[in-house]
Amino acid sequence: MAIYLQLLFFALLHTPPCSATGGSWSVLLPSVGISAMHMQLLPNDRVVMFDRTDFGTSRISLPNGKCRHNSTDCSAHSVEYDVASNSIRPLMLLTDVWCSSGTLMPNGRLTQTGGWGDGSQVVRIYRSCDTCDWQEIQNGLNQPRWYATNQILPDSRQIIIGGRQTFNYEFYPKMSATETSYSLPFLVQTSDLNIENNLYPFVFLIPDGNLFIFANNRAILFDYSRNKVVKNYPTMPDGQPRNYPSTGSAVLLPLQINKGTVNTIEVLVCGGAPKGAFINALNARFDRALDTCGRLKISDQNPEWLMETMPLARVLGDMLLLPNGHVLNINGASEGSAGWELGRNPVLNPVVYLPENPIGSRFQVQNPSNKPRMYHSTAVLLRDGRVLVGGSNPHDKYAFTDVLYPTELSLEAFAPSYLDPSSSILRPNIISHKRKAKMHYGEQIIIRFTITGDVNLSLISVTMIAPSFNTHSFSMNQRLLVLDGGNSTKAVFGRRSYYTVEVTAPPSGNIAPAGDYLLFVVHNEVPSPGIWVRIQ
Ligand SMILES: *[C@@H]1O[C@H](CO)[C@@H](O)[C@H](O)[C@H]1NC(C)=O
Ligand SMILES: *[C@@H]1O[C@H](CO)[C@@H](O)[C@H](O)[C@H]1NC(C)=O
Ligand SMILES: *[C@@H]1O[C@H](CO)[C@@H](O)[C@H](O)[C@H]1NC(C)=O
Repeated sequence: MAIYLQLLFFALLHTPPCSATGGSWSVLLPSVGISAMHMQLLPNDRVVMFDRTDFGTSRISLPNGKCRHNSTDCSAHSVEYDVASNSIRPLMLLTDVWCSSGTLMPNGRLTQTGGWGDGSQVVRIYRSCDTCDWQEIQNGLNQPRWYATNQILPDSRQIIIGGRQTFNYEFYPKMSATETSYSLPFLVQTSDLNIENNLYPFVFLIPDGNLFIFANNRAILFDYSRNKVVKNYPTMPDGQPRNYPSTGSAVLLPLQINKGTVNTIEVLVCGGAPKGAFINALNARFDRALDTCGRLKISDQNPEWLMETMPLARVLGDMLLLPNGHVLNINGASEGSAGWELGRNPVLNPVVYLPENPIGSRFQVQNPSNKPRMYHSTAVLLRDGRVLVGGSNPHDKYAFTDVLYPTELSLEAFAPSYLDPSSSILRPNIISHKRKAKMHYGEQIIIRFTITGDVNLSLISVTMIAPSFNTHSFSMNQRLLVLDGGNSTKAVFGRRSYYTVEVTAPPSGNIAPAGDYLLFVVHNEVPSPGIWVRIQ
């Protein structure tokens, strides 16, 4: 009887609020020594991650007895994770990268910007190799930038927008030594008194070359080259804040290229915390997170927000584009706010959003993890289609015992249901050359692939995803392109057969800024393992 009751209790505790339909979890490494607060996938299938240099002593030492200058801290606060060998290597950061931002540049190097204290104006470059380490450029930024957002531009520079009490933007690299910052009053207008609710704004480069910038509860279309607001979009109908510390998440929905243009451009913003949640949480009242998403078709003349209700309320979630065009929302909490000790009730179930399904049948609850991933947790898509999940530390130091939600050092992988064994007969496999594929704007490309089971050639598409810089629930530079074309045929050579699909490379840097992308062949919503391509 006792055992029965215990089992029942266990079952009740672990029953998700809605029926969960797919996906599976695995722990990759029980500890990477740091709490992965920022992550970037690099084009050699390594992931650079870091937390902050003022967190105390991490659980991984710097190599060869090295210590940071003028410091007794000889632990690492950055590591490089190698997907293939499932192993890590410590890296040396000299200055504080806490709550910073970054962009993978067209040369395949991560250029990370800002942070806190001694790091707030530093630019850091990481080129990956077996012995490489961070290079730091003092005063690389014109302004201190803490909680800013970066976006790669068609001219291969990055724009760095905002930061705490930094109501302007700048570019990196600079055109000249005297290039300065440019004011952005929208960041003043959307800042809630003392609480902000507009940090880490959601920024997307859209195909007309302008930037879509969402902060707090509304958005603008911004021409950064003329420092001009081109359009004001309506405020989200519920008026609730969606940016830090009311941290929701956002994606630019897949861009379908059609005869060299993109006709439909849509943004999806999900979750967050209601007005007042931050102050309430400081006073130990933990408000329920927002359970709504707003979807805005910005290609419409007069777009209106379409509001949809998620099966689970979520603050501190991470929205990721999956190779088949679905949107994953993973990590986070169902009560409270971003900030130290301010989140409660972890949401262990990811939810997948299917943008093309009819309204009312777009959300699918996925199987849960058993590890809370609260404030300062991260997620990035890997080339094989898994999602790497790390981080979570709602404390202002490493704290492993006697606290709610101890500092999480582990790395997990979430495998979406397209990786289930039952999907393997549908899965394409790209027959690729060993060297990294180069791609030129607008050129015709033929991709060869195999599929073991029955193939429906009308269900083949080719997608490209830009690897994003993830921190604080936003994935900077994330975009998914559905390539033009998709005419597939079967080719037979003696006893061997394979398939080909013909597509057109993206037409321009406005649609696909130069650099490294993951390319996938998708069959009936099941993506192949990706291959790296570099567009130029
Ligand atoms: C270490 O501290 C000393 C004294 O404050 C300072 O002069 C020196 O520049 C510091 N070294 C570095 C590398 O920051
Ligand atoms: C292939 O997919 C198309 C598009 O969904 C569908 O209309 C067609 O019936 C499918 N063909 C087969 C043989 O299943
Ligand atoms: C599709 O590919 C086949 C074989 O290469 C070709 O004969 C056919 O014309 C193509 N169709 C289109 C619409 O491009």
